[in-house]
Amino acid sequence: MNDTALSVRDLSVQYRNKEETVFAVSDVSFDLRRGEVLALVGESGAGKSTVAMSLLRLLSSSAEIGSGSVLFGGRDLLAVDERELRAVRGRHVAMIFQDPVAGLNPLIAVGDQVAEILTSHLTIGKKEAKKQALQILRDVGLADPERVAKSYPFQLSGGMCQRVMIGIATALNPEVIVADEPTSALDVTVQAQILYQLDQLRKQRGTAILLITHAFGVVAQVADEVGVMYAGRLVETGGVDGVLGAPLHPYTHALLSTLPRLHEAREQLRAIPGQPPELHEPAAHCPFIPRCPKVLNACRADPPPVLHAGESHTHPVACYNPVWQG
Ligand SMILES: Nc1ncnc2c1ncn2[C@@H]1O[C@H](COP(=O)(O)OP(=O)(O)OP(=O)(O)O)[C@@H](O)[C@H]1O
Ligand SMILES: [Mg+2]
Repeated sequence: MNDTALSVRDLSVQYRNKEETVFAVSDVSFDLRRGEVLALVGESGAGKSTVAMSLLRLLSSSAEIGSGSVLFGGRDLLAVDERELRAVRGRHVAMIFQDPVAGLNPLIAVGDQVAEILTSHLTIGKKEAKKQALQILRDVGLADPERVAKSYPFQLSGGMCQRVMIGIATALNPEVIVADEPTSALDVTVQAQILYQLDQLRKQRGTAILLITHAFGVVAQVADEVGVMYAGRLVETGGVDGVLGAPLHPYTHALLSTLPRLHEAREQLRAIPGQPPELHEPAAHCPFIPRCPKVLNACRADPPPVLHAGESHTHPVACYNPVWQG
């Protein structure tokens, strides 16, 4: 049985402004399987949101998809026409944004926004849609759905708006949900509830979830697979236990060593020394070289390493000199 819900192949995206070009995403490939949570992690600017927005062609007008395909249900979402894409958006592949302002219309009562996703994709009357909208709001754990339905986004808390967005994203039972930092603006309790809801969807409906997050705690809690991004590239992928327990890329290693340990009383997170590169030209060599403790001559001579599962690796890594375990 083919259990792949969505495949991204060789995705490259550039932003072109008057002054400069940013090579935001380079040669990214991954598969998202049914009933699986794949977490994308990496520092700010690594290209995570650009990947997410590319999947449904929601990028800003300065963005240009240089190459690649997004295969869903036998079609390439980067190649289908706008009408076909609209039929997929929200219905089969849905997005949850970090910022409720970006995902909800400030001028429409939220109940009507939930009802609209139903009427726009299903043959159902307005009255029935409103009734179902109340149930959807109840299902995402909103205590007083009647009141919430009549409210405008600004009258609700961030956590409530986030739940409304999850309601909209899940209303039509999509095969794939892309959630870009769905909990980073929320307090820890609400965050745990939202993650629990995403986890239930995966278990009960077999939804495939691409979850973008900065938080390794979140990854360990809900993800099955993890992809680590650095400077627009996927540098390591694999099962959560493998990547978090035995990281192969020096960058993943460094990221994990910045996490506070329980027995260490730390005021602040340690940062990885150095800065991620500016991405104004295509990388000639591995972009991690300036910050890497394990650079070889080959790293400086050869093109950026591609993600590959070496014989003695436990999972794929893009590195000429990976961190060996045991
Ligand atoms: N509209 C834009 N115009 C120009 N450059 C952009 C634009 N959007 C993003 N970029 C650049 O593309 C790169 C990737 O950005 P992206 O937002 O995808 O990163 P991210 O991994 O989601 O970061 P964060 O964790 O901060 O959300 C960055 O260098 C960013 O500055
Ligand atoms: Mg982002």
